[in-house]
Amino acid sequence: MPAGAWQTLKQEVSVCRRCPLHETRTQTVFGVGAENADWMLIGEAPGVEEDRRGEPFVGRAGQLLDRMLKAVGFAREEVYIANVVKCRPPDNRNPAPEEVLQCDDYLRRQIELIRPQIIIALGGVAMSALLNEQTPVGKMRGRVHTLPGADIPVVVTYHPAYLLRAPTQKRAAWEDLQLACRTVGRELK
Ligand code: URA
Repeated sequence: MPAGAWQTLKQEVSVCRRCPLHETRTQTVFGVGAENADWMLIGEAPGVEEDRRGEPFVGRAGQLLDRMLKAVGFAREEVYIANVVKCRPPDNRNPAPEEVLQCDDYLRRQIELIRPQIIIALGGVAMSALLNEQTPVGKMRGRVHTLPGADIPVVVTYHPAYLLRAPTQKRAAWEDLQLACRTVGRELK
């Protein structure tokens, strides 16, 4: 495990001023979990609670994400959870394309260091940042994609915050997680 590379990356992110989001953040939200995880889950950007605590997915959407992980037999600490953008966009707006672009290198380096067996893209922002696609999530989910330039399967599913608003889509998200399990040969107990 290249501990030095992790340290360098964490340090760089913690003082990042590449885009205007640094002006309004409380702190950066780097990522959390096992640095040798088999599964990496990627969301959009920190919300108010994440900005306050410095950890991704700790608000209501995060609690749902924890339950989704539990359904496939994972404790939160066993996977790696990160966001495309490391600072909270004010008023919970979507990150702007320029903000995604400025943060992209950090996410790529996290993926390179973890080398996960599979990536789960949570929602449209993660999907388009990873796969360079503008297609709606509903059309991209349900099949396995490949991370461009790397041999890593990517399964796209709905963002947990969207699932809180549209609970009838939880079945589809469950199917996506089952697809991810099949893709990496993970048995559901
Ligand atoms: N939504 C995200 O995309 N990421 C978080 O960390 C929290 C909510």
